[in-house]
Amino acid sequence: IKKLAILTGGGDCPGLNAVIRAAVKTACYRGIEVVGIQDGFRGAVEGDFRTLGFKDVSGILPRGGTILGTTNRDNPFAYSVQVEGTRQIQDRSDEVMDRFKAEGIDALITIGGDGSLSIAQEFAKKGLNVVGVPKTIDNDLMATDLTFGFQTAVATAQDALDRLHTTAESHHRIMILEVMGRYAGWIALYAGVAGGADVILIPEVPYQLESIAKAVKRRADQGKHFSIIVVAEGAKPLGGEMVVERTVPGRTDPIKLGGIGAKLAADLEKLTAIESRVTVLGHLQRGGSPIAVDRVLSTRYGVAAVEAVLDKDYGMMVALQGQDIVRVPIKEAVHQLKKIKSDDPVLLAARSMGIEFGD
Ligand code: F6P
Repeated sequence: IKKLAILTGGGDCPGLNAVIRAAVKTACYRGIEVVGIQDGFRGAVEGDFRTLGFKDVSGILPRGGTILGTTNRDNPFAYSVQVEGTRQIQDRSDEVMDRFKAEGIDALITIGGDGSLSIAQEFAKKGLNVVGVPKTIDNDLMATDLTFGFQTAVATAQDALDRLHTTAESHHRIMILEVMGRYAGWIALYAGVAGGADVILIPEVPYQLESIAKAVKRRADQGKHFSIIVVAEGAKPLGGEMVVERTVPGRTDPIKLGGIGAKLAADLEKLTAIESRVTVLGHLQRGGSPIAVDRVLSTRYGVAAVEAVLDKDYGMMVALQGQDIVRVPIKEAVHQLKKIKSDDPVLLAARSMGIEFGD
């Protein structure tokens, strides 16, 4: 192996730079040249590459975002281009294969979530040597216990909950915190437990408004005249689709604009006669510096990804299983999301101590 490329795809996530730094250092110490691809897979199509050395990764460990331009969801297999004023979708994957060959790139490390790793997997099928690193604040990627960035998002949401607690108590209000999690409620569950929430609403457990109202009233009867609710943006009422979404050209996934929290606040106020407020945490969960545990995890992932390349163990994603970093086939991690199961130990612990899930 002489030359290695690295790219960051999908949404940004705390720890991207920590992975890049670890991978670049590990590779450079072994005399491997590293090429950074700017702007995710867009840079692979457009040929936007730059060499990364020790100097380029110096001081980036705590930095949010990515040093590799922007992260985005562009897909070379369905690349959106403007042709004479109209948008067209083109397959540009062959160009990427040719360019990598011409540049003498032996392998590609893709740092991404379900979308970017699915693209990496498609390239693997075309014969590209790829290794994946699991990234998403949502922690909903299969085949790994943890994705990097998740624990930082949880810490941010937990800090918000700590702050909401004191204001909720001061006004005898219901305080609702809407967190990210379109398809899975990992952030809501972990932040809810860490932040002492009274009610946690997740996509995996459809909720009934009456159950939540009952829990809030039960607390009031016990002399607790405020309640804290964490709701994942993808949570739904039983039998309903309560989401505010929009679509963006070139993207197939729905974009949530927030809304479930506001609807809940209005409905609960009616049912309980307790004043309610909502905070939508949004992209604060993705920005900023990774916390210590994410820096360690990101660093381990970056090192392990280069080790997989050195072993020529391609088509694999580095993953955390228990305390160990292992390699799993990328195809086992994509196209199917990791949801919270009804026997999840954290969910069960939360239920045991009386946290309401609205079911
Ligand atoms: O996949 C991560 C995620 O943060 C989701 O939880 C969220 O719904 C989505 O990205 C937001 O994406 P965008 O930044 O494109 O609006």
